[in-house]
Parts: sequence; structure tokens; C-alpha cells
Amino acid sequence: MAKDRIFSAVQPTGDLHVGNYLGAIKNWVKLQNSGKYDCFFCVVDYHSLTGDMDAKKRHSQVFKTVAELLALGIDPEKSTFFIQSEVPEHTELAWIFNTVTPMSELLRMTQFKDKSGDQKKNINVGLFDYPVLQSADILLYKATHVPVGQDQVQHVELTRDIARWFNNRYEDFFPEAKAKLTEFPKVMSLLNPEKKMSKSYGDAHVINLSDSPEIIEKKIKKAVTDSGKGKAPGAENLMMLLKSFADKGTFKQFVEAGKKGEVRYGDLKKAVSDSISLYFNDFREKREGFLVDEVKTRKIMSTGAEKARLVAIETMDRVRKIVGVR
Ligand code: AMP
Ligand code: TRP
Repeated sequence: MAKDRIFSAVQPTGDLHVGNYLGAIKNWVKLQNSGKYDCFFCVVDYHSLTGDMDAKKRHSQVFKTVAELLALGIDPEKSTFFIQSEVPEHTELAWIFNTVTPMSELLRMTQFKDKSGDQKKNINVGLFDYPVLQSADILLYKATHVPVGQDQVQHVELTRDIARWFNNRYEDFFPEAKAKLTEFPKVMSLLNPEKKMSKSYGDAHVINLSDSPEIIEKKIKKAVTDSGKGKAPGAENLMMLLKSFADKGTFKQFVEAGKKGEVRYGDLKKAVSDSISLYFNDFREKREGFLVDEVKTRKIMSTGAEKARLVAIETMDRVRKIVGVR
């Protein structure tokens, strides 16, 4: 029997952070290594054109994101791993999906509302249309499982709607895609733990996977623990990070201390930064390797795109016939 297909992607908008890792990428590696799925992973450079980044920065960031994902364990022997713009069928399918998607549905997207607030001078049509391109990414491969963080669930629901709108208007062709969440689908910002960890608030809000132990320590030291309103979402977030990165014994120790109301935030912070530094030691080294060997890394990506295109071309051949342009 054919394996279920997985598709997921990340924008090349900055270094990967622990939110990306715990919400999505750790899961990508786990699902890939389970051998149970046919996995497609992508760096979506066309999506990133909707933001403010300049071309030179984008070019180097695409490459860095690729190197980071390889260093985290995305294995081109096991998964189809590629760069979106190297498979032109993504934008072609997005156009077709544009013609079955009501504008009113895109106006409901919370990411569009947030991002148009963040970049008031650049509310471009691409930003509005972003979730349609995302749906095309997923459905070009007829993927049914989409491992993402909480913030992307609405887009995956829209993907299901788009498949349905297309199937109703033409014929039953696209499958239903479902989001796959992790234990921690929403990692919170260090400085504003009421909001998700995101590079758009600034570097001090996130722990990048490539941060040195000194920087990790500095950032965690400044992390907000108590809001002063009887709630401590920051401390909860730190406990969650500890659970993810420390050994079980250390985590248990802090849980026990927490029950007795004896947690010292300074100790908790030290344990969190030590465990994160250690956890990504190996990653930092591997990342350098992929960055230095640029020719080899780029070859991996062009081979990945060739593999992806085999599926993409087949889907588009069918879709063009279904909609009556061939
Ligand atoms: P992005 O960097 O926005 O392209 O996100 C890449 C992946 O990381 C997506 O699946 C997001 O849902 C996930 N992600 C981003 N920020 C967080 C966060 N703070 N907590 C959990 N998952 C996140
Ligand atoms: N919108 C996603 C994000 O910001 C990135 C993305 C683009 C994606 N296409 C996708 C995620 C397809 C999953 C599937 O994180």
C-alpha cells in the first residue's frame, strides 16, 4: 500500500528558532525517520517575497535555511527536500486555486491581519494571496498530513476548503489535508510570553538554534517569568523548554520543586539555557559544514527539486486537463 504523504515548509526569513523547532521541524525529522510516510519538505522562497526583506539578504537566507534543515536531520535520501522556486508548478497551481477561492475567505485569515499590521507600508496582493500559494504547495503533491505549528492550522483548514471548492466545481481530484501538531504547538516569546515566539518581534524574543551558549544564556536571563497578575506564562514557557531539552531527571526535579512552590527562577533559567546549549551543540557544528560546502549543498537541493518535479508535473498535467485548458 502507498504511504501517506506529508508536506511541510518554512519561509527563509531568518535563522530557525526553538519555536520553529518544537512546533514543526523536530516533528518533520521524527516523521521522516519513522519510515511510515512519504515526506516532502520545502523552503518557500516565493512566500518570503511578500515580506520586506531585500533580495541579497533573501538569497543568502534561503541557503542558510537549507543548511540548518540539513543539519537538523532532514535527510535527502529519505525525504524529498527542495526549494519552492525551483519547481515552477507551485505558482501555476496557485493561479488556478485563486479562481476557486472567494476573497471573503482570505479576508478571515488571522496571519494576513497580523502581517498587514506589521508591514503597513507593504500590504501587497501576495500577502493577501499567501495562503492560496500555501494550499498549492500542499496539494501539488496531494499531501494529506501537514506537520506545522498552531499558527498555521487556519491555513491548513483553508487548504481543505480549496480542495473541496475545486473538486465541487470540476471533479473529485484533491485529497483532504490535515494539520499534525506537536506537544508544544505554540512556543511563547521570551520577552512577551503572551505572544508566540517570532522573529518579527526582534531577536531578543527568540532563541535561534544557531545562537552560541553565551547568547542563549544572556537571552534566557532576560526572559520574563511573572506577569505580576498572578499568572506566570513566561515561567510555564521556560518549564516547557526544560521539558523539551533537558534530561528527564532535571525536569522532574523542577516539577517537584514547583509543587512545593520552591522554584528559584534563576536556577530554572540556568537549567534551561544549559540544556538548550547542549542540545544544539552538534547542530551548530553540522550547520557550519553545510554552509562551507556550498557546492555540495546546492547540488542536494537541485536533485531534490528534480524529484519533486516528477510529482508536480504529473499533477499539473491532470489539472490542466480537468480545468479545460488542454
Ligand atoms: P515560519 O518561520 O513562520 O515559516 O514557521 C515555520 C514553522 O514553524 C511553521 O510550521 C510554524 O507553525 C512553526 N512555528 C513558528 N513559530 C512557532 C512558535 N512560536 N511555536 C510553535 N511553532 C512555531
Ligand atoms: N505559511 C507557513 C509559515 O509561515 C509556511 C508554509 C508555506 C507552509 N507553504 C506551506 C507550511 C505548506 C506548511 C505547508 O510557517
